[in-house]
Formats: sequence, structure tokens, C-alpha cells
Amino acid sequence: MSLLQVNNLGVEFQTGDGPVFAVNGVSFALERGQTLGIVGESGSGKSQTVLAMMGLLAKNGRATGEALYHGQNLLAMKTAELNKIRGNRVAMIFQDPMTSLNPYLTVERQMTEVLQLHKGMSRRDAKKRAIELLDAVRIPEAARRIDMYPHEFSGGMRQRVMIAMALLTEPEVLVADEPTTALDVTVQAQILALLKELQRDFGTAIVMITHDLGVVAGLCEQVMVMYGGRVMEQGSADEIFYRPTHPYTIGLLGALPRLDHDTAELVSIPGNPPNMARLPKGCPFSERCSMADARCAAELPPLAPAGAILRACHRAPEHVMKQGEAIHG
Ligand SMILES: Nc1ncnc2c1ncn2[C@@H]1O[C@H](COP(=O)(O)OP(=O)(O)OP(=O)(O)O)[C@@H](O)[C@H]1O
Ligand SMILES: [Mg+2]
Repeated sequence: MSLLQVNNLGVEFQTGDGPVFAVNGVSFALERGQTLGIVGESGSGKSQTVLAMMGLLAKNGRATGEALYHGQNLLAMKTAELNKIRGNRVAMIFQDPMTSLNPYLTVERQMTEVLQLHKGMSRRDAKKRAIELLDAVRIPEAARRIDMYPHEFSGGMRQRVMIAMALLTEPEVLVADEPTTALDVTVQAQILALLKELQRDFGTAIVMITHDLGVVAGLCEQVMVMYGGRVMEQGSADEIFYRPTHPYTIGLLGALPRLDHDTAELVSIPGNPPNMARLPKGCPFSERCSMADARCAAELPPLAPAGAILRACHRAPEHVMKQGEAIHG
């Protein structure tokens, strides 16, 4: 049994415009110590996928399918049951640390409360453990700084505080939604290196949402590329990053990727992400895809095995590669 097994996850929102299917048919399995990267442009359904798993959808949203943690379906749990798992065995870090840090409490107070609540520790032991974790995420002078308020930390330090908070309970699964996007490149690299190190030490499994394909190459074993609420391509990071065969992935990479190209940034693909309330009948990417034909516009391509990966595209990989070369070569 996998640590985390997601089967056919879907998210539907009720809106004034009718139903919006923000996530459709997402499945993946995650083992201890492994990292899955979820990439895709804004609005592709990355955050809603993980929010659904954590039971954190907006009021007008509904999740379908399964998210099995040790075989138990998180989506079917009562809030009280779910609360024993989230923020404890399964933790989440957000792009904006202030989403999870309380501005009115010192870091010490926030960290010790978690340990007192989830681990039944005394305040004193909890404080000792909290300082150890702040040390682990390389906050200088942790023993002194633990008494500060969140706003007294710089952006990068605050992000570290949030990671330390998320690690307090030694979660088995860490869900990170763009945890470094707001930071400058040097700090970003430091924090990613830190996550990798902590993953090695704690054996944590990570679900990492990112716009930055460099992060995927450096950190993830598995990758899921999303567009218009659907998975376009999914498989090992090596395959997807170095040998992509889906026109959308190739577009994200900006060019046929080279092996030395390990810091590829998201480049723009002509056109805009789709209006989720008015998706085309066929492939969601068909309207922007330079390789689309009539079938792509009319018929939704299923996510199906193609060699070692899964791929949702009507055009044959060889065809895409050949045309990709002509476009980018
Ligand atoms: N409460 C809601 N009601 C209706 N639609 C929603 C709601 N919340 C999100 N959506 C829609 O769900 C889609 C997917 O959103 P999601 O937040 O998962 O995108 P994302 O891939 O995380 O994008 P970003 O990179 O910008 O964070 C979007 O089109 C969004 O408009
Ligand atoms: Mg998001």
C-alpha cells in the first residue's frame, strides 16, 4: 500500500456561470521519501488538487474520487477525524507564510502550541524542540529569535519558520504550494536544498506545486503536468523533463529541453489559459496548440500509457517531436 494514493480525484465548483470542473481524473501514488511535482500555468488546477486532499476547498466546491492516506480516504472523513491527520501527519506549506502564521502570536507560542496539542509535550520540552527545528531550518540565533513575532522576520526567514512549523509533528507527507515563488533566487535555492535535506533526514514524502521547472528537475522523482483542470502528461521527472512528448509540456519548457538546461523557467505559450467555465469540447489545450487538428478540438484525449509515462494527446509522440524540432530547433 502506498503512503498516499490518489484515485480519480475531481473538484467541482458551483458558480453563477454553472458548474466549473476545476480538477478532473487526477491519480497518483506517493511513497515515503519521494517527491511529486505538480506543474502548469495559473488556473490549471494545481492548488485545488491539493486543497481537495486536505479538505480545504471553498464552500462552493466539492471533491470526488479518493485520497487514501495509509488506505484511509481523507475525502470521506469527518472534520474531527481529518483534523487528527492534517497539520499533523500530513502538513501543508503555502506561498504566503502569513496564511499559516498568526501575526499576533510569537513564533514560540505558535510552535509550542502545536506540540502541546498534537504531542502532549510540556511547554518547556516543546520550546526546546521548537528551537531545534528553527536551528534545523538554519534560523540564526534561534533560541533568541523564537520570541519574535512573524513580522519581525524577513521574507526568507519567515518561509523557514513556516517550514519548521510544518515539520514540528514530523509529518509523513508535506504538501508545498509554491513555497518559494515569492523569494529571490538565492533564498529559493537555499530553501529547496533545505527541504531536500529534511526529506532525507525525516523520510518525508513531498507534493510540490511549482511554476519553476528547475525545481522539478532538482527535487522531484515524479511529475504531473496540468492544464485546464486535467493531467496532460505524468511520469518520472527524467522522462517528462528531458524527453517531453506532449505539446503543452514542450511549450512550458520553452524549447525542446537540453540536458544542460536545468533552470528552465516557465515561458509564455501564445494565447491565454482557458476560461474554466467554457472549456473546449475536446482537448483543453487544443485552442492554443500549434499541433492540434480537428480531432483534438472535438474529442477529449484520454490519459493513457505511452511508453513509460502517461499522456493525454491525440498526436503521436513521434509526430510531436518532429514538429517540435521544426518549431524550436
Ligand atoms: N471557489 C471557487 N469557485 C469557482 N471556481 C474556482 C474557485 N476556486 C478556484 N476556482 C477555479 O479553479 C481553477 C483552478 O484553480 P487553482 O487554484 O487550482 O489554480 P492553480 O493551478 O493553483 O493556479 P495558480 O498557479 O495561479 O495558483 C481556476 O480556474 C479557478 O478559477
Ligand atoms: Mg495555486
